[in-house]
Amino acid sequence: MKICVLPGDGIGPEITAEAVRVLEALQTDGLKFEMETALLGGCGVDATGNPYPEATSKLAREADAVLLGAVGGPQWDTLPREQRPERGLLGIRKELGLFANLRPAILYPELANASTLKPEVVAGLDILIVRELTGDIYFGQPRGIEVRDGQRYGFNTMHYTESEIRRIGRVAFEAARKRSKKVCSVDKMNVLETTQLWRDVMNELAPEYPDVELTHMLVDNAAMQLVRNPKQFDVMVTGNMFGDILSDEASMLTGSIGMLPSASLDENNKGLFEPCHGSAPDIAGKGVANPLATILSAAMMLRYTFSREEAAARIENAVKKVLAQGYRTGDIFEPGMKRVGTKEMGDAVLAAM
Ligand code: IPM
Ligand code: MG
Repeated sequence: MKICVLPGDGIGPEITAEAVRVLEALQTDGLKFEMETALLGGCGVDATGNPYPEATSKLAREADAVLLGAVGGPQWDTLPREQRPERGLLGIRKELGLFANLRPAILYPELANASTLKPEVVAGLDILIVRELTGDIYFGQPRGIEVRDGQRYGFNTMHYTESEIRRIGRVAFEAARKRSKKVCSVDKMNVLETTQLWRDVMNELAPEYPDVELTHMLVDNAAMQLVRNPKQFDVMVTGNMFGDILSDEASMLTGSIGMLPSASLDENNKGLFEPCHGSAPDIAGKGVANPLATILSAAMMLRYTFSREEAAARIENAVKKVLAQGYRTGDIFEPGMKRVGTKEMGDAVLAAM
């Protein structure tokens, strides 16, 4: 199993190191990983002038899966847009055809108090956000900032083809079949034609999945319902931009964005696996970042790309165990718990495995 490891920027190298240690520890179970590291994001810009260097692209294309830390940092924010770290992330998603972004928001009972919402509102929360990742206004042309009629003019283009909508719809329906069999499709059909088409195509797909209940929600209402009564949701499916926003919101229901993994898959389940959080430049290099989202992303890799459910569950159970044992990084710390750093958290997960 060939894994391309992209530590990235900020806390990225620290947290991926722990996930790599977890994968290495699993090798004794008859799994064999070949891991190679490359540059993505700001580190790629610094070394080569390109946030997604050619050598990285080659390694990523040849690998079975990609493990990513995080990209970005204030020192690169003033560069021209095509040299910004985020462009590297969008570039690898597009080049590898990673159209299906799965972002589970699960509340671990031990962390119920870490959420800013009342424990009874979030206890038992288990939502899967399915976000389309290679289309929408993120990639639409034309786009730009120009001077028109003597003033600056900014523009972007939102679009989806019906086949793009259908393939992400199928991912959501299939995922719901393995869960509570409910899909809520999120759009803004009262204003945006692109999302009227989104709703129409979802309705056309529904008869193929008679065992799954399909509902629709406007995105503004969905944002409100996520904090009002999040447990009404099972699978939420939506476009690239709405999914970006709603998945950050959903992550906070669980107490810390530092806990949430993600998978971005192509049509053959080759995938890129990364924590939902960013590069946290403010705590980079201090050894205090929470590595659990990255470790859980490695578990998703074993499940979705390599179909090694048992190994995935072994990692996830180890994470549950360290939480039960009271180990906490700063982002999820509560009085009475054991405050640990990045490496000690990794050690605890390894011991629990
Ligand atoms: C995410 C991030 C990215 C996105 C940024 C860094 C380009 O916010 O993965 O959610 O908007 O997709
Ligand atoms: Mg985001």
